[in-house]
Formats: sequence, C-alpha cells, structure tokens
Amino acid sequence: MTAKTLTVTVLAGALAFAWADWVGRGAEEKTHKLTSISPRKLADSLHAVIAADRQAYAELVVQRLQAEEGRPAATERRIEAHGLPVHAQMLRAAGQSIQQRGAEFSYTLRSLWPINTSHGPQTEVEQTGLERVAKQPEEPYYTEEVLGGRSYFTAVYADRATLTSCVDCHNRHPKSPRRDFQLNDVMGAIVVRVPLEF
Ligand code: HEC
Repeated sequence: MTAKTLTVTVLAGALAFAWADWVGRGAEEKTHKLTSISPRKLADSLHAVIAADRQAYAELVVQRLQAEEGRPAATERRIEAHGLPVHAQMLRAAGQSIQQRGAEFSYTLRSLWPINTSHGPQTEVEQTGLERVAKQPEEPYYTEEVLGGRSYFTAVYADRATLTSCVDCHNRHPKSPRRDFQLNDVMGAIVVRVPLEF
C-alpha cells in the first residue's frame, strides 16, 4: 500500500474528528490549507475514534445490561457463559479486521497490571509510555521506534476507569494482579502506531 492510499483510507474513516475540529474554527482563523497530516494528528484522531467506540460499548451496552440484569453482562468466556465479549475482545477483533483490510497503522491495549498477560508492555517504548501516562494521564506519550526494521510513530494514551463497571470487573477478576483500582485511575493505555516508512 502506498502512502497516498493509506492517507486516503484513513481520511475516509478516522479523520472526521480532525476535520470537524478544523472546520469548526470559523472562517476568520483559516490561515492555511490542509494538504497533509502529521503522524501525531493522525494518531490522535485514530485514538479519538477508538476511545469513543470503547466508551460507547462499555457504557451503552455492558454497564447498562449489567444494571438491568443484575449480573455481569460481559465475560471473556462469552460463548460458554452466553455473555457479551469484553471490551478488550471487541477491540482486538476490530484491530484484526482493519489489518485484513490493508491498514498499516495498528493499535492495541496495554497495561502494567494486565488480566491478560499478553497485554503487558512488549517494547521499551511501551514500558516507558505506560509509566509516563500512569503519572501524567492528561498528556499522551509520543515517540518514534523501529520495529522489524521499520520506523513507526508511536503514541501511548492513558486508559482510565471512566465507569464503576471498569473498576468492579477488574478488581474482582481472578486473573487481575491489582485489586485496588478506583474510579478515574489509569488502568492501562491504548497504543497507536503509524508507520513512517512505506
Ligand atoms: C466485565 C468485565 C470488564 C469490564 C466491565 C471492563 N474490563 Fe477491562 N478487561 C477485562 C478483561 C477480562 C480483560 C482481558 C481480556 C482479554 O484480553 O481477553 C480486560 C482488559 C483490559 C485492559 C488491558 C490490560 C488487561 O487487563 O488485560 C485494560 C487497560 C482495561 N481492560 C481497561 C478497562 C477500562 C478502562 C474499562 C471501563 C471503561 C474496563 N476495562 C471494563 C474485563 C473487563
């Protein structure tokens, strides 16, 4: 896939956010034309869409059903337990589907206290980024890294306990290495990678 194709593909989906932001500034502030997008802006826009989708699923589906039925609606054993997939499984399924469509960017969930051990930090950048956003959740951690001989722009965004269901489920989960999460705590991060070479 060429850089141009990637840009077009991504612009079609994820950049509605950036576009709305830009358009919303009003005529008097239009000082230049949008002709290209920085890796940071691209990663920020992808993250905005991913985080909004997760929030909608967690709030409008999982937490609501749980409140109505009085039992956990989502479980990673969803097939055996006839439950909904947990948010992390939804994110993984969507991420894989995007890869199959040829996208070169990628995203994943990571945590310093993972239920699923494969969500622990896998690179030095992830380790540093997770530690940084745990201390300063408002500021994403941005850097570049080389993986498999290719350069990437890597962005790490804090993933916070926005709902009581986040805290309850993680604190109760038998595989959770941490049981003292509170509302608004940083529970992990969403890591977005955008290739810098094509
Ligand atoms: C119903 C239970 C449940 C709820 C609710 C829930 N999670 Fe999770 N979460 C899990 C499970 C189980 C995993 C690992 C699943 C897997 O990868 O197969 C996970 C994975 C994660 C991870 C990746 C690290 C890890 O533990 O594997 C983060 C970060 C995370 N959740 C944050 C959140 C946040 C933030 C919320 C609320 C918006 C939330 N979770 C709501 C069960 C839950």
